[in-house]
Amino acid sequence: MKGIISESYSSLFLFLVLILIPSNVENNLLDWQSSTNLSNVGYRFLPVNYQALILAEVTSKSLFTCVRTCHSTSGCRILDYDDQSKWCRLFEGNIATMGSIDNSSSSQMRVGSIKFFPQQFINRGQSCSFCQGSRYLRCLNNTCQCQQNTYFDGSMCQSQKLLGASCYNTSECRQDLNYTCLARQQCGPASIQTATIVAGYNNGQSGSNSTGLSHPTGISLGIDNALYVSDYSNHRVMRFPEGSLLGSRVAGTGFSGSGTNQLYGPTGVHVDKSSNIYVADSMNYRIMFWKMNASTGVKVAGTGSVGNTFSSFGVIAGIFVDQQGFIYICDSSYHRVMRFSPNITNGIIIGGNGVAGSGNNQLNSPYGIYFDEVQSFVYVADSGNNRVQRFQVDGLMNGTTVAGGYGAGSANNQLNNPYSVCLSTTNNALYIADPGNQRVQLWYLGATNGVTIAGNGAMIGNSSTMLTGSLDIRINVNSTNLFVSEMNYNRVWRFPLL
Ligand SMILES: *[C@@H]1O[C@H](CO)[C@@H](O)[C@H](O)[C@H]1NC(C)=O
Ligand SMILES: *[C@@H]1O[C@H](CO)[C@@H](O)[C@H](O)[C@H]1NC(C)=O
Ligand SMILES: *[C@@H]1O[C@H](CO)[C@@H](O)[C@H](O)[C@H]1NC(C)=O
Ligand SMILES: *[C@@H]1O[C@H](CO)[C@@H](O)[C@H](O)[C@H]1NC(C)=O
Ligand SMILES: *[C@@H]1O[C@H](CO)[C@@H](O)[C@H](O)[C@H]1NC(C)=O
Ligand SMILES: *[C@@H]1O[C@H](CO)[C@@H](O)[C@H](O)[C@H]1NC(C)=O
Ligand SMILES: *[C@@H]1O[C@H](CO)[C@@H](O)[C@H](O)[C@H]1NC(C)=O
Ligand SMILES: *[C@@H]1O[C@H](CO)[C@@H](O)[C@H](O)[C@H]1NC(C)=O
Ligand SMILES: *[C@@H]1O[C@H](CO)[C@@H](O)[C@H](O)[C@H]1NC(C)=O
Ligand SMILES: *[C@@H]1O[C@H](CO)[C@@H](O)[C@H](O)[C@H]1NC(C)=O
Ligand SMILES: *[C@@H]1O[C@H](CO)[C@@H](O)[C@H](O)[C@H]1NC(C)=O
Repeated sequence: MKGIISESYSSLFLFLVLILIPSNVENNLLDWQSSTNLSNVGYRFLPVNYQALILAEVTSKSLFTCVRTCHSTSGCRILDYDDQSKWCRLFEGNIATMGSIDNSSSSQMRVGSIKFFPQQFINRGQSCSFCQGSRYLRCLNNTCQCQQNTYFDGSMCQSQKLLGASCYNTSECRQDLNYTCLARQQCGPASIQTATIVAGYNNGQSGSNSTGLSHPTGISLGIDNALYVSDYSNHRVMRFPEGSLLGSRVAGTGFSGSGTNQLYGPTGVHVDKSSNIYVADSMNYRIMFWKMNASTGVKVAGTGSVGNTFSSFGVIAGIFVDQQGFIYICDSSYHRVMRFSPNITNGIIIGGNGVAGSGNNQLNSPYGIYFDEVQSFVYVADSGNNRVQRFQVDGLMNGTTVAGGYGAGSANNQLNNPYSVCLSTTNNALYIADPGNQRVQLWYLGATNGVTIAGNGAMIGNSSTMLTGSLDIRINVNSTNLFVSEMNYNRVWRFPLL
């Protein structure tokens, strides 16, 4: 057959040949009576998870040989082939749900997917002689079963699903990645439900000694992985060394007040690389700076009185400080995001026109804030608008919605009172605290949907599968852990990330 086929044949003809001529008499005739759905030229396959789906990258003489290699590679369901570079990539998975067909920089590249029919799986459950040499079924425990990484859906073997895909049964989820169908009917590793308490009491009660917390709001991670917690109702900031539930007070006296050694309802907190602390001292309408181990703080922004000028603000929530010492805050009362330069009394407005609203130049009760220093983007949990807005610093005042924005709700394209946001540069994803749905969403930049990675979104209770209250979230520097403060239950959890 190799002699008959030349590379100049049109793909349509190649596939007729493929269908009509069994290439290999040892193989089941039915195996070759399949066809491949081909895109036009100029496209490539963009998998949602390259590592999980790639089977091989090889050079092939032609599209035909690439397709044939896919046919003879166990698990291959998708391919793309570039006639210029002769590069042939083979993937497992479902082309409709596990990736997209994307423009290719090569005008000679095509995407193909193997078509499947129930008939090809008809021998499932029969003894192994019925599936010898089959590309659709394999022999397991003396019976014909679905191939690795596929499951039987009642009529065909389908590709097992990846992280976040909806499921009813664990058999639907990628077993080799140890995914199960989680309580919230999404595929994922059971480990992401099992968090550890890293501050506060297990039972969720409040306390004011060195192991207790009372309404923890903001959290931040030090360079040494110590956890800093704004302990709102105890009017102090606590520091918990990595691995220790025993904290020490690093700002505030534990009693409310407006002295320089005091705090009154601290919300956002930020620890810099030198272990200095910035605190949003919300009821004192000021931002305090505590040098490491200092017993008093210094006011670095705000007048001490409520106001909506360039030097004053209302109740502030989230805070972020960049490497240059610029301070970013959410002025929840006046629906705006401000930035203060070091030692400059007047701030600038980065987003929001001061009036609650849902226009792209507006915000409605913004809480959490995260600054992406590399891109100069400010991400804001625009709570009242159930969305996350992104603003360009020094750019136009109009924001772009990067998550939610479809009203309050629990669908995967929605949020309900998002409280906090942070960005992981290791996977280009936003983590969004979505307390109205008692969950934390992972939202890849550019995606239209989020995936629940913490909380089950259903119940209130005492286990890490159930998160409740306003939640602040932070991830550690290499994105191996997600920290979630659970305000109503007076504790902070650590979830392992994937
Ligand atoms: C073939 O692919 C096109 C787009 O690439 C798609 O619209 C069509 O549904 C596919 N057909 C089958 C049978 O998979
Ligand atoms: C692909 O290219 C076409 C034409 O240049 C463009 O209209 C389309 O938006 C592009 N699609 C993607 C996914 O980039
Ligand atoms: C095959 O048999 C082994 C041992 O009896 C069992 O542990 C395994 O689950 C079986 N595999 C399948 C796919 O049924
Ligand atoms: C899950 O799927 C497996 C394999 O199809 C089946 O044996 C099992 O009964 C299913 N379990 C439930 C709870 O539906
Ligand atoms: C899945 O779990 C098994 C057994 O616990 C372990 O050996 C394997 O490394 C895990 N695989 C992944 C991808 O985590
Ligand atoms: C703090 O108080 C709780 C509750 O009374 C108690 O269980 C815990 O041991 C105390 N911690 C310290 C460090 O004293
Ligand atoms: C400063 O505080 C840190 C913990 O925040 C502590 O480990 C260190 O010993 C303190 N240094 C001094 C000089 O007190
Ligand atoms: C801000 O002022 C303080 C005290 O006057 C000074 O120590 C510090 O270096 C100044 N910071 C900047 C960034 O100018
Ligand atoms: C910013 O948003 C406002 C309100 O939606 C709109 O009127 C204005 O044209 C936008 N400005 C720019 C530069 O896009
Ligand atoms: C959590 O546990 C504590 C102590 O066991 C209990 O008092 C409280 O009612 C529990 N809360 C919920 C929501 O189950
Ligand atoms: C990530 O950081 C943690 C804590 O510092 C460390 O234990 C771990 O080895 C790091 N992991 C990677 C992959 O760098």
